[in-house]
Amino acid sequence: MSLYEIVAKRAEADILFIPYIEGKSLEESCEAAKELSKSFSSSGILEDFSGKEGEVAILYPPLGQESRICLIGLGKNPSLSTFRDSYATAVRKCLPLGCQTANVLFPQIETPEDVLIACFEGLLLGNYLFKKYKTHKDQKQKESLFSQFSLVTKTSSQQLDEQCEIASSIYFTRDLVNTNADEITPAKLADIAIDMGKTRKNLRVEVLDKQEIEKLGMGLLLAVNRGCSHEPKLIVFHYEGDPSSSRKAAFIGKGVTYDTGGLSLKPTQFMNGMKADMGGAASVFGLIDALSRLQVKKNVIGVVPTTENGIDANSYKVGDIYTSYLGKTVEIDNTDAEGRLILADALSYTAKNYKPDFMVDLATLTGAIVIALGEDYTGVFSNNRALEEALQQASSRQGENFWAMPLHQKYFSLLKSDFADTKNSGSREASSITAALFLKEFIEELPWAHLDIAGCAFRSKESGAHPKNASGEPVRTLVEFVRSLEENTWKEIGQ
Ligand code: BES
Ligand code: MN
Ligand code: ZN
Repeated sequence: MSLYEIVAKRAEADILFIPYIEGKSLEESCEAAKELSKSFSSSGILEDFSGKEGEVAILYPPLGQESRICLIGLGKNPSLSTFRDSYATAVRKCLPLGCQTANVLFPQIETPEDVLIACFEGLLLGNYLFKKYKTHKDQKQKESLFSQFSLVTKTSSQQLDEQCEIASSIYFTRDLVNTNADEITPAKLADIAIDMGKTRKNLRVEVLDKQEIEKLGMGLLLAVNRGCSHEPKLIVFHYEGDPSSSRKAAFIGKGVTYDTGGLSLKPTQFMNGMKADMGGAASVFGLIDALSRLQVKKNVIGVVPTTENGIDANSYKVGDIYTSYLGKTVEIDNTDAEGRLILADALSYTAKNYKPDFMVDLATLTGAIVIALGEDYTGVFSNNRALEEALQQASSRQGENFWAMPLHQKYFSLLKSDFADTKNSGSREASSITAALFLKEFIEELPWAHLDIAGCAFRSKESGAHPKNASGEPVRTLVEFVRSLEENTWKEIGQ
């Protein structure tokens, strides 16, 4: 059964969603709710409900076709992002009520296609629960997902089916991030990838185990792995959607399945949440999942270096120097700056062995990016203007926020080491930037962008389209970015 249908008229359902524009009447806000305006004005609800963006009210009218109504505040001049965020917020508010079917209204019956898509995307992004660890033994088990959205509109769009596929990939990413670190180990990630390789068209998966990683000399990935009971893996997805083209993009995701900090141990309050330190890896999984579901005609490599950053008597040591895959030596200034180490080996391995047109890495890399930009932004660092702009544009089409940060070369001196080619961290100042500059040492001059997703990938509170905890951000942007790659963009990036 499909998750949605397009209908001309409301039939029976658990709830009716009605959009409401601030400062307007019910009829002006929503054509299809005209017939309800009398009962609304007599109920007095509209004296309490102003329709501000994010405002949601649930009403229990005398039983009709639906037993509940959900009013969705859209503010005065809703943008596509407002539609997406508000419909998502409304759905999330309804999940605890156990609603399963909904009639969904839009401001106009002849809904503009982009508005329809944004609203539907919101419905899907909101329709997510992570209940794996809830037993509900002493509660009524009411909470449930919607299984059917009946969209009351005259517009239809092919893109709705695609949205359902992309949403499945987002749920996949969210589940990977929300699941216990003790379950999502490097070996488990590798197994999941291998399964994807077996079942998906145009997808081949390679997994390098510890022995092969040793043979290759990935000294930084191995250093981080020293204090862990799980062996490291290097997972490589080869998605070949366009065999006729030699163009290929590479996405590299930080796969630290749990970050204790190592010997530079994190204080407890900073350790909680560190099962999400494979958020970059989970985004690469989500991206590859979406590309293969949609059979996008582009070639993409996904690379995931994965290990825990554990702690034991074997742990890698502050002050010791390790040699990277590329041959550059790194003095460990802080074992908690582990993400850049495993990414460094993965970036130079990708550059050397696959020679992609460009590389994009994704990582929950620094606490400092959360201080700088908060949870609603991804920090973008790039050595290539065209790549940076293409990413920015894709993000704004998807209502995810990317913000360009300076890759200020002068700060690289903060990582100067007396004994090695570089240190892995410096002082607190500009530490998101020095993290990016460290990575830049390993990209072999390729066009590259680094996305620091420490804020947006795992959230302390829900916000718009994003639930609390794993958000699945920025998978939608990456999918959009890859799909929109045209020959001239590849060329501009290559110059
Ligand atoms: N995984 C953390 C970054 C992080 C912090 C992600 C908060 C999500 C939320 C990363 O490995 C880390 O520990 N970074 C250190 C770097 C420092 C030691 C130079 C940080 O940001 O404090
Ligand atoms: Mn760390
Ligand atoms: Zn980390």
